[in-house]
Amino acid sequence: MAAVKRIALVGAGNMGANHARVISQSDQATLAVLVDPRESVGRDMAERLGAAWAPELPDLHDIDAVVVAAATEAHYGLALEVLNQDKPLLIEKPVADDLLHTREILELADTRDVPIMCGLLERYNPAVLTARAALGDPLHVTATRHSPYAPRIRTGVAWDLLVHDVDLAINLIGSAPASVDSRLGFFHPNSVPGAEDVAETLLGFEDGAVARISASRVGQHKIRSLSIYELDRLIEVDLLRRDVTIYRHVSEDSIGDGPSYRQQTIIEIPEVVTSVEPLTAQFARFNDVIDGRASAAAERATILPSHEVVDHVISQRVTA
Ligand SMILES: NC(=O)c1ccc[n+]([C@@H]2O[C@H](COP(=O)([O-])OP(=O)(O)OC[C@H]3O[C@@H](n4cnc5c(N)ncnc54)[C@H](O)[C@@H]3O)[C@@H](O)[C@H]2O)c1
Repeated sequence: MAAVKRIALVGAGNMGANHARVISQSDQATLAVLVDPRESVGRDMAERLGAAWAPELPDLHDIDAVVVAAATEAHYGLALEVLNQDKPLLIEKPVADDLLHTREILELADTRDVPIMCGLLERYNPAVLTARAALGDPLHVTATRHSPYAPRIRTGVAWDLLVHDVDLAINLIGSAPASVDSRLGFFHPNSVPGAEDVAETLLGFEDGAVARISASRVGQHKIRSLSIYELDRLIEVDLLRRDVTIYRHVSEDSIGDGPSYRQQTIIEIPEVVTSVEPLTAQFARFNDVIDGRASAAAERATILPSHEVVDHVISQRVTA
């Protein structure tokens, strides 16, 4: 069994608090240092979890790996510092606030042969893992991720919500899209100027597969749904309730002379393959990548496609 890793966690905000809990609970790692410029928050959280606090990234000589959950604007500088010290990096999404920076970070990880992962957390949703286990040959994917307005997040929905389903569609279909079409909506007076509240996106794939992805933060309740259509099956995934239903149409006919209609459909409800919390599963994967149980090169290659799509989608902000 691999030695327990000493982890530095950067960022003690909403996501950082969850990462801190997961790292502390892991038997593969220990939270050695928590980095956040906000002393009151950072020191308090570090002390509660038995870690040291630092206002900025320390020298990493006695650290085995780093998790970055700081504000996105800080990702680029932090990622370069970590990778230049040859430390494996799990960085929250998006990798950086600019596609050129994201590419530079991924290239640096490649050149220095250092493992890098991005916090595309829905990959580890138990319902997604269950759907993947049942997957055949997906032709058409639709995803809806709608939320009521959250005053805390005033930047656009493309990076906040859309990226997750773009990433899922790419992984389910198994290739990067050949075409991206999208339309943005700007509605809420409290949003940062130019930040989209709605993003509708269509992806076309080389093999003919199609995905339609809808993200909105002007909804009235939370919807997280994913439908995967194959030639003779529909796999419906509720990411919120974390369940999967598979439909197979058998026959249909009308009843009598009126408009009544009868349909026969086989409904299958597979048992969910895991109950592990996504953040815990993601951290376990990070350990697998670091220890060589999973391919670091393959993991790295999965990061850029969704970032390229979202960058393309938000390029329309200026012309909107
Ligand atoms: N994977 C997901 O589903 C998901 C969900 C929400 C947020 N995120 C991502 O997580 C990151 C953090 O989001 P959040 O909601 O926790 O934000 P937040 O505002 O709650 O916390 C950000 C923290 O980063 C700290 N910080 C800022 N600059 C820093 C620096 N240079 N070094 C260390 N700490 C620094 C801030 O003091 C703050 O405590 C963002 O990149 C966001 O996009 C991912």
